[in-house]
Amino acid sequence: MLHLNAFLMGVGHHEAAWRLPESDPFAQTDVAHFTRLARIAERGKLDSLFLADSPVLWNSIGRRPGGTLEPTVLLTALAGATRHIGLIATASTTYNEPFNLARRFASLDHVSGGRAGWNIVTTAGEQAARNFNLDELPAHRDRYERAAEFVEVSLKLWDSWDDAAPLGDKDAGRWGDDDLLYPTEHVGRYFRVAGPLNVPRSPQGYPLLVQAGSSEDGKELAARYAEAVFTAQQTLAEAQAFYRDLKERAARAGRDPDTIKILPGIVPAIGATEAEARALEDELDRLIKPEYARQQLATTLRVAPEDLDLDKELPADLPAEDEIEGAKSRYTLIVTLARRERLTVRQLIGRLGGGRGHRTFAGTPEQVADAIEEWYRSGAADGFNIMPPVLPSGLEAFVDHVVPILQRRGLFRTEYTGATLRDHYGLPRPTNQFTRQLAATAR
Ligand SMILES: Cc1cc2nc3c(=O)[nH]c(=O)nc-3n(C[C@H](O)[C@H](O)[C@H](O)COP(=O)(O)O)c2cc1C
Repeated sequence: MLHLNAFLMGVGHHEAAWRLPESDPFAQTDVAHFTRLARIAERGKLDSLFLADSPVLWNSIGRRPGGTLEPTVLLTALAGATRHIGLIATASTTYNEPFNLARRFASLDHVSGGRAGWNIVTTAGEQAARNFNLDELPAHRDRYERAAEFVEVSLKLWDSWDDAAPLGDKDAGRWGDDDLLYPTEHVGRYFRVAGPLNVPRSPQGYPLLVQAGSSEDGKELAARYAEAVFTAQQTLAEAQAFYRDLKERAARAGRDPDTIKILPGIVPAIGATEAEARALEDELDRLIKPEYARQQLATTLRVAPEDLDLDKELPADLPAEDEIEGAKSRYTLIVTLARRERLTVRQLIGRLGGGRGHRTFAGTPEQVADAIEEWYRSGAADGFNIMPPVLPSGLEAFVDHVVPILQRRGLFRTEYTGATLRDHYGLPRPTNQFTRQLAATAR
């Protein structure tokens, strides 16, 4: 079965979506808007929904709606408004402390009845560093080393309560068993954490671990820990190579490759006819302001905006991926896309405007279902990150018109069969590492 995640972003992933007559330009702070989206996604039996995040004000607010709600807070509200759908929040390992974050996600898992997921990111932007006592972005390698240690500490904290530790024994007057708390006592390069956590082990044990970096270091982190991976892939061949690579890395790390689900993003512009879908895409692209987009592209490519002529191809002498300390894989994706298709800067901006490097696709519901099925059946994806260009209408179109086709083809569930987010992804509840160790010592 396919896995489908709804990636929710304001009024849509297309950067000009907010300018359509139907869009509420202030929706990004409106809990009613997100509640509506979550209920639509749940109506479609989607595995999960997901909120991106960075601890910094993204973009100029002149360009598009800016300022977003903190994802775990918003997801707590959505947990109360839904019953089944998984709730995945992004949080940075560079700008948090493990204890605080482990506590927050354990809480969300309790509040949602086992539906929490954590998109583990290292935060690639330059500016965030300056919100956290730093002058510049820590090096890519350091960020990923810290991320690995951060996850290790978090796992120890989530496992610091045995599932059997709370007893609630009123007769004996004994609430819990102190012997079933496992001190964390972590001392590492980045963190010193005594533990245990101040939240009992949650319904899923710990949140579903998601990862979204596709550089070498990103893939290594994913291979060790991730249970779901979000990725941007432009072509079938690239997606297949990424899929194979990551499954092989997971196997080398001693894991069953089936326990890591790979979900490339797709930005589907859906119309009753192909012409209608293309008209929607064209309407959105016409609303892009190229001067803002050129500025953004120049920052990503580390060139001056004047060096990007809107009607010419990218300059020949761009930095190599090694020289990029921010988002390495996205940088390479953008340059490869522009060079392969010989796009002018203006055309490239149009392609990126839809989904920031994710695959855009305009077509009828049948064509979108075909596009999804083709990648799924040819070893490129275990599922998809659905990134509607316009919200809510694009999510409604997907749920009401594409999902039924996938269901008829036997590719997607018609009902939720499990209670937790891991159940939806067909993954087992993790056993507590310390309980496992104790059992091994006793044998
Ligand atoms: C679907 C998707 C969603 C992402 N969401 C976030 C996010 O919310 N916050 C963030 O800092 N990075 C996010 N990223 C970026 C990655 O986590 C990562 O920083 C980026 O791909 C660069 O990593 P790399 O240097 O390993 O390639 C996302 C990436 C993808 C593919």
